[in-house]
Amino acid sequence: MSAAQHDSSANEPVDVTDGKLSRFEIVKEGLRRDGIEILHYEPAFPVPGTKVEKRIERFIAFCFVVAGLGALGFVAVFAFWPWEYEYAEFGGAGSMSKWYTPMLGLTLALGLGGLGIGILTWAKKLLPVEELVQERHDGGSNEEDRVITGAVVGNMVEETGIKRRPMLKRALLFGAAPLGLAAIAPLGTLIVPPGDDLVTTGFNPRNNDGQPVGLMLKDGTRVRPDMISVGGQITAFPAIPDGSTNKHADSPVLLIHLRDEDAKKARENAYEMYEGAQWNNYIAYSKICTHVGCPASLYEQQTNRLLCPCHQSQFLITDNAKPVFGPATRHLPQLPIDVDEDGFFYAVSDFLVPIGPAFWERG
Ligand code: FES
Repeated sequence: MSAAQHDSSANEPVDVTDGKLSRFEIVKEGLRRDGIEILHYEPAFPVPGTKVEKRIERFIAFCFVVAGLGALGFVAVFAFWPWEYEYAEFGGAGSMSKWYTPMLGLTLALGLGGLGIGILTWAKKLLPVEELVQERHDGGSNEEDRVITGAVVGNMVEETGIKRRPMLKRALLFGAAPLGLAAIAPLGTLIVPPGDDLVTTGFNPRNNDGQPVGLMLKDGTRVRPDMISVGGQITAFPAIPDGSTNKHADSPVLLIHLRDEDAKKARENAYEMYEGAQWNNYIAYSKICTHVGCPASLYEQQTNRLLCPCHQSQFLITDNAKPVFGPATRHLPQLPIDVDEDGFFYAVSDFLVPIGPAFWERG
């Protein structure tokens, strides 16, 4: 379409229902009625199909393909990449899992970046250069205006050249469709029911062929009473495969060797369900703070308080680990423990109440 077509000399109303009018003439008339004047109009490529145009098309198609691959990569990483951190020395994925978040970011950046660069290049390099001025006006649209609007939208589609650029159309579809998938993929995690994961831990005997689960250190060493001096404490994990990894991140306990008088006090204060849960002067509490789940592990022997470093909740060890300061409102669950004939600690059962934050007691 030549510049001569776009002069603004004709101010007479044009019958837009005249079938002889081209779509651009209807568009132009619509613009005129809306008080819009075309000052400058110049197709990006007056002669379609030049080498330069083809090269730009290929670049845009490449961007869309990169976007599609990036989005597909995002979905694949989200679904299959090992994300649970496991100590490599215990045979876990180790360094693979630490790349989970960067890989999600990288693939999403490729997906969104490819689509964005492709669309921007299309708009800047392939669309006509236009310069319009418009007066503002109020009021609704009449029938003719709607016809004109339809023509304007159709013209915009025409000007993108998508109809005569099937390669770009297919590349855009390839790039955009997986991005939609990437956007909804995380919702998939909401449809997997948690089962009883929220009320069991690694100390549940079902993790050990129905037998009671022992207590071990992070390196797998089984825990014996003589490992903890009076007033001391250690962190213990369920002695099962992956027991000290994130797979059982809800399971760690703080095993404390109380002084005689403190152990007596704890035994006297024990709730009915915790009677016999201590073994001699040893007592084990969940390390997962009942406020928002930080590890509560600062044991103060003089006051028999266990401190959580995150928001300073304090739990009284000699009274069922009840919260006595800070935002936590719920006791730390106690793990019933005993010592087997070989002299190793084991959990008599799983925790008797769910571990972790206090949402359990709401509602
Ligand atoms: S998580 Fe322990 S006090 Fe907040």
